[in-house]
Amino acid sequence: MNESCDVIHYVNVTKEKNAYLKGSLINMEVSSNSAVYHQEYLSNEKVISNKGLKNEFSTTEFYSYGAEFDASVSLALYAKNIGIANMLSFFDPHSTVLDVLGGSGQIRRAYDQYISQSNVPLNIITGDIEPDMINRALDFGIDAMVLDACNLYEIEDDCYEGAILAYGFHHIPTVSRLSAIAEAIRITKRGGKVLIHDGIKGSSTDKTTKVTVDKYGKCPHVYDHPTRKELKKYLSSLKCQSYTEYDIFDPQVFLCNSSEEALKLFTTYYIQHYGLPTYFPQNLLTSEVGAVFSNHKWAFDEIGSLHLGSAWVQGKPYAYQPYLGKVDDDLLMRMRVSKDRDLSHLEHAMVVPRYAKLFVVEV
Ligand SMILES: C[S@@+](CC[C@H](N)C(=O)[O-])C[C@H]1O[C@@H](n2cnc3c(N)ncnc32)[C@H](O)[C@@H]1O
Repeated sequence: MNESCDVIHYVNVTKEKNAYLKGSLINMEVSSNSAVYHQEYLSNEKVISNKGLKNEFSTTEFYSYGAEFDASVSLALYAKNIGIANMLSFFDPHSTVLDVLGGSGQIRRAYDQYISQSNVPLNIITGDIEPDMINRALDFGIDAMVLDACNLYEIEDDCYEGAILAYGFHHIPTVSRLSAIAEAIRITKRGGKVLIHDGIKGSSTDKTTKVTVDKYGKCPHVYDHPTRKELKKYLSSLKCQSYTEYDIFDPQVFLCNSSEEALKLFTTYYIQHYGLPTYFPQNLLTSEVGAVFSNHKWAFDEIGSLHLGSAWVQGKPYAYQPYLGKVDDDLLMRMRVSKDRDLSHLEHAMVVPRYAKLFVVEV
């Protein structure tokens, strides 16, 4: 390890804070140079993910865009609130849950700022394989730790009330996905819940990333989005007694004072979030994303019968097509932004109507 680098504690979550880390790692000091640390972390024989692969969510490599990704999250922290609020509603108040693919803490930060209305809030701990993301999460003052979803060897059995594998399951190598689910179940207490969430292969979510990240981004996805069959196969091979499958309305929403500004915000967010060229033309982006929705065949899998939120979203102009225009109070209420004085005056929105598959496993 390079002695001249600033030294940080990569884990600031202690046993007292319910992280249940196995002793030796708690006080381990690592270099703040995430590229060095990332290599060291991945060279550990217990880490099984992404070996030899570049991590696009770092900042120190020329191909990575971690800083831009994190900037996009802060630019519209509420953008995925509807999906996040739907997911988190499965946990009992006061639960401590681990967001295993947490990046720089989007779920925890959106929850704290907008979604939590309870005096018994959830305690969400952010995990990620990329130290740079975890440093950013720590800078936001939230509990965070570096981990590998596929081998959570630092964490004891049965210690959290829940685990979340969301907004990134497709980044896990296909051969390691079963391990990631098994690990999330292992660290969750009996009576707790594991949430497995992603846009499935062929869904509008998958297709929007194909025409952005994969076509123009500096880091095209390496693995396919999971199929529904694949997810069900993992769960049956793990003999999960009880799980429920949902299709959730999980749009990206961009709020502004006018439609033009909302469109600009959507463009900037997409450029940063998906590692697109800095000056990517707005009209190319809208035509690529627009074409997905006009050519898309909505599959049963994508909008199945246990479709959370279907009762209100059907019939709305943003149900199945990107929407640019005035927002209704219902949408704001479901995004939980109406209570936020900074946002409640914003009356225009761009809405990208994505749907995601959610499996809720009862442990
Ligand atoms: C698309 S980002 C989403 C981050 C966050 N959930 C959000 O919505 O902002 C996916 C994240 O998964 C992380 N990741 C990929 N493979 C991982 C693994 N094996 N273990 C833990 N994190 C991983 C990446 O470093 C990245 O930060």
